[in-house]
This record gives sequence, structure tokens and C-alpha cells, in this order.
Amino acid sequence: MHFVTYCPVRTLKRICPGRVLAETSVWLIVATTLAVFNISRDPDGGEIDLDQTPGIVSLPSPFECLIEPRSARAVELIQADVQL
Ligand code: HEM
Repeated sequence: MHFVTYCPVRTLKRICPGRVLAETSVWLIVATTLAVFNISRDPDGGEIDLDQTPGIVSLPSPFECLIEPRSARAVELIQADVQL
């Protein structure tokens, strides 16, 4: 994914000097989260609304989901990180 796709306006004249830090941070957060958690649909959570919030920083509308450790080893890793 190219950084400019994060930006709502495509005619920007300057480039963000923090883009590599920003993209690397997002990649690390997603990768470490998926390494230790299973994220799945909550069967009791009802329909997921695919709308997004309006504005410069757009987010998915709130929805219910299940976030569970992937394994006993994942629990150890999560607990070790919390204790840092
Ligand atoms: C997802 C995260 C980020 C997004 C979406 C983002 C987006 C942008 C955008 C749209 C601009 C304006 C470009 C223009 O004026 O044409 C900008 C400028 C800038 N960004 Fe970021 N940025 C992010 C993260 C960061 C980080 C982590 C840093 C620093 C560590 C940073 C530092 C700057 C600076 C200093 C400018 C001003 C550049 C200038 O005036 O020439 N940004 N950013």
C-alpha cells in the first residue's frame, strides 16, 4: 500500500516526512496483534454495518467482535508484554 492512499486529498504538493515511521508502525501493530490474537465475528453481535464515519479521520462504524488469544503460548507473550 502506498502512503498517499491514506490521504483524502490527492493533489498534495509536499510529502510527509513521517510516512515511513507511520507505515512501519501500522505494519508492526497489525502483525503483532494478528500473531497472538484470533479476531472473529461475534455470533451474538448482530449485523456489521459497513459504513464509515465521515471526516478527515474516517473510522469503521462500531461493531461487536471476538478477540481471543490464539494459544497458551500467545497468552504467555501477551502477559510478558503487559508486564514490561
Ligand atoms: C498515518 C500517519 C500519517 C499521515 C496520514 C500523515 C499525513 C500527512 C500529510 C497529509 C501531510 C501534509 C503533506 C502536504 O502538506 O502536502 C503531512 C505532513 C507532515 N507530516 Fe505526516 N502523516 C503521518 C505521520 C507522520 C509522522 C509519524 C510524522 C513524524 C514522525 C509526520 C510528520 C510530518 C511533518 C513534519 C509534515 C510537514 C511536512 C512539510 O511541511 O513539508 N507525519 N503528513
